[in-house]
Amino acid sequence: MASRALVDELYGKLRLPVFAAPMFLISGPDLVIAAAKAGIIGAFPAPNARTIEDLRAWLPRITGELADAGKDGMWAINMIVHKTYERFDAELDLICEYKPKIVITALGSPKRPLERVHAYGGAVFSDVINPQQARKAADAGADGLILVGHGAGGHTGQYSLFAFIEEVRSFWDGPLIVGGAIGSGRAVRAALTLGADFAYMGTRFIATPESQVSDRNREMLVRSQMTDIVTTTAITGIASNWMKESLDEAGFTAEMLEEKKKIDFGNLHGDTKAWKNIWGAGHGIGNTREIQTVQGVVDQLAEEYRIASVEAEALNSWPHAA
Ligand SMILES: Cc1cc2nc3c(=O)[nH]c(=O)nc-3n(C[C@H](O)[C@H](O)[C@H](O)COP(=O)(O)O)c2cc1C
Repeated sequence: MASRALVDELYGKLRLPVFAAPMFLISGPDLVIAAAKAGIIGAFPAPNARTIEDLRAWLPRITGELADAGKDGMWAINMIVHKTYERFDAELDLICEYKPKIVITALGSPKRPLERVHAYGGAVFSDVINPQQARKAADAGADGLILVGHGAGGHTGQYSLFAFIEEVRSFWDGPLIVGGAIGSGRAVRAALTLGADFAYMGTRFIATPESQVSDRNREMLVRSQMTDIVTTTAITGIASNWMKESLDEAGFTAEMLEEKKKIDFGNLHGDTKAWKNIWGAGHGIGNTREIQTVQGVVDQLAEEYRIASVEAEALNSWPHAA
């Protein structure tokens, strides 16, 4: 499908141009289904299903419940595409069976699943953290780009979305999703003003009852602020953002956080122990002030977006005549 047509098709279904971003150990069928029912796209990483049999059970549940709710096609799946990830082929077989409109590739080229996803009419969106990766993904045939900027939860980008979006928009006019510290409806609107088609929001959806985290993790989010987020390469080898309180509890000292763990793409997410006890979140954490349902979060985002749009009218008097 021509890529602008895909944006238009999704816009026709959505209440807000938002993806609940895939999060390791956090997003499963409950979150995906609640997101779609609330009017945004729900997404989850395939490795969150601990076995292929689990994934085989999750997919018909998601597609079935969304079809019943009239929310067909409002979900996406995130795949690890690195060659050392041994479940790739089995996951792709299931994806071809259940046909998500969007397959998100992270930590690698979007090329591997492209042909088979296109064959059933799906689109592949590639998650990237700098303009060079964005260009490579575009050249490899990605149907959409996901720019992960500074301040994102989990594996974070280093670049400010203000500049990152503009640089990528200079060579890419296809579907563009952006993420990193987008925590409010006002910020969603700002992302669109900067040139994005959709916002990619992870952290804002962690403290929902539909996520798979513990209540302690939810409560830690509610009491934490931006300055409680630590960026380190010590956990996975890739720069990522975590709540300081969880790092302290796990016994990480300042020196340990300076270290760089060896990257093992094959086991990047397989090492569940790290992610179970050390809890990721991004700079937008200050937007989480209570435990809310996914519907409650989306209602709040919609109201914030509406108010920001009214207030933006006042900005229309700029620029003044010199
Ligand atoms: C705890 C946590 C785990 C994550 N796990 C994954 C993952 O497994 N795969 C992936 O592509 N992105 C993952 N992400 C990144 C999100 O998909 C998204 O890029 C990010 O949350 C956006 O920034 P925000 O958290 O500031 O909204 C994770 C994010 C968090 C907070």
